[in-house]
Amino acid sequence: MIRLKDFQLPSVVVQSPMANCTDLPFRLIARQKGMRFAYLEMVSAHALVHENRKTLELMKSLPEDRPVGAQLVGCDPEVMGKAAQMIEAMDAYDLIDINFGCPVPKVTGHGGGSALLREPQKAREIFRSIVRNVKRLPVTVKMRLGYCDASGQEAAVIARIAEEEGLDAIAVHGRTREQKYQGNADYEAIRRVKDAVKIPVFGNGDVVDGPSALRLKKVSGADGVMIGRGALGNPWIYRDVERALQGLPALPAPTVEERRQTLLEHLELEIQHHPRSAHLQMRRVACWYFKEMPHSARFRERVNSASNGDELRQAILEYDPSLSRSPESPG
Ligand SMILES: Cc1cc2nc3c(=O)[nH]c(=O)nc-3n(C[C@H](O)[C@H](O)[C@H](O)COP(=O)(O)O)c2cc1C
Repeated sequence: MIRLKDFQLPSVVVQSPMANCTDLPFRLIARQKGMRFAYLEMVSAHALVHENRKTLELMKSLPEDRPVGAQLVGCDPEVMGKAAQMIEAMDAYDLIDINFGCPVPKVTGHGGGSALLREPQKAREIFRSIVRNVKRLPVTVKMRLGYCDASGQEAAVIARIAEEEGLDAIAVHGRTREQKYQGNADYEAIRRVKDAVKIPVFGNGDVVDGPSALRLKKVSGADGVMIGRGALGNPWIYRDVERALQGLPALPAPTVEERRQTLLEHLELEIQHHPRSAHLQMRRVACWYFKEMPHSARFRERVNSASNGDELRQAILEYDPSLSRSPESPG
């Protein structure tokens, strides 16, 4: 078990932050299926201190969505410190994470996200400012292996600085900024970062099931496993990974009916929490749930033409992997 300050993480398996993906409905569904800790998607520290309405909306949580971590992106130490203080004062989150991994030019161009991997002095100032401004909550940083250097050396330098400045844990995605999402995450390089510090390290990248989680843990030596894209449309992954780590046999994959029911619940939550944009978000979410099933391309087409919740619900109810009873089937 991992303890960060006074906060006992309920599991070593956590859900990573993912912009436009890990929203409140996603997290509520994931919790029903066994997810025990998640991060909100990143929010700009600058936007938060200006109380930007959209940013506050992104940070929406509920008491049943705990424990949960908030993640800040930005590069101005003072603003980052102020934003972290605001997050703590909101009293709705259990941890504050700092984004040192985002490869998107819109973020790195302003000096935030993975651009900070090349700025050890700036990194120190950001960590120091946040630690100074936060009294109670654990503070962590999530990073990539490096900006261009895939050895893990850059991340190890930042990890040591994080430890010196009093951060409580780090997470490492086993790719560089330059690699974006190409190739495979390098678990051996994560081990080099793990070996550089004593604070807990979460390994991240390409965990899609129990065996991949076991491989990440074994090769990297990481204390915890952070799941990202593997949970999109597959909230059963947490249960699978937990069981694999405990040495328990795998459970059967969810049936089409289980997937359908879970997806319908996800749709209702999305409509409840984001009534105006639910159908747009759910077009993507629906495709995730059936992506590896037969005739998923046909389902995708239908879902992408749905213009409201009712049409989506209908498409989900009528999805038929055998196509024998499907209304679009020619015979
Ligand atoms: C659509 C998308 C959005 C993401 N948003 C964030 C984010 O807000 N903050 C962050 O630290 N990482 C973000 N990531 C990175 C993931 O958290 C994770 O580190 C990465 O996907 C590798 O893990 P995986 O192979 O398990 O997906 C995002 C990734 C994707 C695909």
